[in-house]
Amino acid sequence: MGGARRIAGLLAVCVWLALVTEAQAQAPRAPAMRTTAELDRKVQAFLDAERDKWDYLNVPYQDGKILHDLVLEGGHKSILEIGTSTGHSTVWLAWAAAKTGGRVVTIEIDRGRHERALANLRRAGVAEYVDARLADAHELVKLLPGPWDFVFQDADKEWYLQYFRDVEAKMAPGGCYTAHNVARLYARQVTEFLDYARKRPGVSFRYAEGASGQGISISCWAR
Ligand SMILES: C[S@@+](CC[C@H](N)C(=O)[O-])C[C@H]1O[C@@H](n2cnc3c(N)ncnc32)[C@H](O)[C@@H]1O
Repeated sequence: MGGARRIAGLLAVCVWLALVTEAQAQAPRAPAMRTTAELDRKVQAFLDAERDKWDYLNVPYQDGKILHDLVLEGGHKSILEIGTSTGHSTVWLAWAAAKTGGRVVTIEIDRGRHERALANLRRAGVAEYVDARLADAHELVKLLPGPWDFVFQDADKEWYLQYFRDVEAKMAPGGCYTAHNVARLYARQVTEFLDYARKRPGVSFRYAEGASGQGISISCWAR
């Protein structure tokens, strides 16, 4: 009698499992990946809404757009950002990475800014394309293996030359290294970096057209 009950119980469990599996197979699933148009709408709405609100030394809107366009034009995938702050430039870079099939590693030393950046990336809809590190970039940049297709440096200007030296051997062919705040205004802090970057053999050097008065330099390795 006990054996028959056990068998009946087992059968009931099997029937229940089969029904659940069948229901799951038939249930409409959320799309694995949003369409580019959906993502574009979400990120653009975020960037428009926040455009005049960034207040933690973030890049101006037009500089963020230049970074986004450079990543798209180059089809860059492996992206490093030095200096996240609250994530304005990171959102632009991550938006481009979403379209190239890439990913952004970004580094910020200040916990409060790092956490605000995480929240902003989620609100913008691009958090899944970003690996945000709370760390001292002086140490972490040396340790990250690369190779990098695209670098954006926007942290402590006094360290610009050292960051460039720490990264240059890890740049992929065709990769580009960009630096913010390279206009004359910042000459005292960034001259050594600019002199060095301009003279790298096999690396082209230019300033981004249409950037804000803060300036963006672009060094690109031959393919
Ligand atoms: C100009 S802000 C970056 C703005 C950001 N790229 C944006 O547009 O939203 C520079 C950031 O670099 C961070 N920083 C400075 N020194 C750093 C270091 N050694 N390691 C990591 N982050 C650093 C600062 O805390 C600051 O938030």
